[in-house]
Order: sequence, then structure tokens, then C-alpha cells
Amino acid sequence: MKNNKKQNYTIKGQDRALINKHKPCLIWFTGLSGSGKSTIANLLEKELYKKDIHTYTLDGDNLRRGLNKDLLFTKEDRIENLRRTAEVAKLFIDAGLVVIAAFITPYNKIREDIKAIVGSDYYIEVFVNTPLEVCEQRDVKGLYKKARTGEIKNFTGISSPFEMPMYPTIEIETVKESPEAAVAKILAVLKGRL
Ligand code: PPS
Repeated sequence: MKNNKKQNYTIKGQDRALINKHKPCLIWFTGLSGSGKSTIANLLEKELYKKDIHTYTLDGDNLRRGLNKDLLFTKEDRIENLRRTAEVAKLFIDAGLVVIAAFITPYNKIREDIKAIVGSDYYIEVFVNTPLEVCEQRDVKGLYKKARTGEIKNFTGISSPFEMPMYPTIEIETVKESPEAAVAKILAVLKGRL
């Protein structure tokens, strides 16, 4: 940062929250490719919408088509992808939104960094815990097959690590819980916080 002083604006996040009639927060989904992050995030957003909650969903696949299209899947690029996304989430929180983010987020350090960027009070981590074998068997996008043949390099779970989250706020086991049950679990946690 060079020669920049923070400008202060009169209208603050808490003023926007008053208009919205709910508090902002960030619900960050982490899990392997094909674990079910986007499916649960989508269903969650639909349920929040029904409750007149102002949301915005940030999705790895989508942000990598625009804001983060210069980034690949090396460790360095993933960290930058997630750092930028966390900064966007921080702005959206300040705008008063309930932000939903669905990103693999494979490292514990970056999960901690995201929490620090947005502020721990706002951060809710949802670990979509689906075993690699199940994700690979589902292979919805055909990416695991390509990763196994080496056509895709640095693929999470195959040729790039996924560290198990240490302190998720919520853990979803998709082999045991339906997307509806997962959303009910998240809504129960949100109840006291919005
Ligand atoms: S990360 O690790 O958090 O930066 O990844 P993310 O931005 O969420 O992007 C994951 C989606 O990118 C597709 N894809 C890959 N994933 C993992 N490893 C490699 N090498 C890769 N190449 C492409 C894939 O569709 C991921 O989407 P999801 O929804 O997770 O399946």
C-alpha cells in the first residue's frame, strides 16, 4: 500500500443493515470439487430469498471467468483467488448482504486469512465433507477422469492437496444428509445471527 489514507464515509455498514432489517455475514463453503458446495449454496440462497434476506453468491467457477480469470490452480494462484474473493466478500458485507461463497479453499492457512479479512464475527465456515471416492465416482463435470489421466494438472484431491478443515462452524456429510437437511442446519445457525 503506497500513500493511501483511508477515506471515511458517513453512512456505515450498520446504517445499511438498518434498512435491510438483518445483519450481514459470510457463509463460506469449503470442500472438494464435486462435494456439493454449489448445490447446497444455491438451495440456501433460495431459502434466504424467501425470507427477504439480501444475499449474493460468489462461486469459484464463476469468479474464475471474470475477476479471477488470470489465475490458475497453483498454490499461489489459489491463494490469490481466495484473497481477492475474501476482499469482495468484505465489501459486500459492508454493503449489508449475507454473502455466500462456494470455493474449494484447500488450505487451513487461507481459511484463517479469509476469516481475518472479513472479521471473525462475520465468518461462518461450512465444510461440505464428501469423501474423495464419492466425489470421484460422481464426477459430475468429468474433471476427475481428466485429472487421473494427467490431462488436468494440480487437481485437488488427486495431484494437489486438500487439508481437512480444523474448525468449521458447520460440517455437512453429504453421504448422510440431503441438501435440504444441510440447509436446515445452516439456517438454524443463522437464526441467532441475522
Ligand atoms: S480454489 O482451490 O478454491 O481456488 O478453487 P475454486 O476457485 O473453488 O475453483 C474450483 C473449480 O474449478 C474447476 N477446476 C478445478 N478444481 C480443482 N483443481 C483443478 N485443477 C481444477 N481445474 C478446474 C472445478 O470445476 C471446480 O469447481 P467445483 O465447483 O469445486 O467442482
